[in-house]
Amino acid sequence: MVDTPTRRAVLGAGALVAGSLFAIDRCAAEGPLPPTPACHDGDAATLAQTDGPYFKPSSPERIELFEEGMLGQPIELVGLVLTRGCKPISGALLDFWQADARGQYDNSGFRLRGHQFTDAEGRYRLRSIVPGVYPGRTRHIHVKVQPRGGQVLTTQLYFPGESHNRSDGLFRKELLVRTAKNAGWLAGRFDFVVS
Ligand SMILES: [Fe+2]
Repeated sequence: MVDTPTRRAVLGAGALVAGSLFAIDRCAAEGPLPPTPACHDGDAATLAQTDGPYFKPSSPERIELFEEGMLGQPIELVGLVLTRGCKPISGALLDFWQADARGQYDNSGFRLRGHQFTDAEGRYRLRSIVPGVYPGRTRHIHVKVQPRGGQVLTTQLYFPGESHNRSDGLFRKELLVRTAKNAGWLAGRFDFVVS
C-alpha cells in the first residue's frame, strides 16, 4: 500500500493553487478519502472501456475544466496513477473529456476537455463539473491514461448512487469514483492502475 495523500492534504494544496474559484471547506474534509478501488500489489490494471465517438486529440493542458458561468455541480477529482505493484507514476499523461451538465459534448472546441501530467508523487487533480446524462448513458467522465513511453489505458469513470447506472450497459462498479459532498461541490477520488 502506498502512502497516499490524504484528502485534506490534496484539497489543501488545490486551494492554494486555485485561489477562490472553489471554496474549500476544510472543516468538511475530515480524514483521508480512500482510493477507489484500493491498490493491492499484483492487482489487475484498471478496467479499460471504449473511448466512444467524442474523443478529440490535442486537448489543452489544464487541470481546470470549470469555466465561469458553467452549469452543473462542481467537482474536484483527485487520485494517483499507479503501477500494478502500487507504485506512483510521475509524469503520466491523463486526457479527460466529458459531457456538460446537459449531456452535450463540445465537438467543435475544447470545452470540458483537457490533459495533464501526474506530479512527482504520481498525483493528478481535475476540477470540473459533474457531467449530465444523455440517451443511453449514465453520468461518466472519459479518460486516457498513459505512463511515459507506456501503453494507453482508455476508460470511463462513474458516479455512485445514480439511477441510470443500472440501465447503462457500459457501467462497471469497479470504475466508480468515491465521492464526498462538501459545501456546494463534490470531492472525488479515483486511482488508476496501469500495466
Ligand atoms: Fe461519453
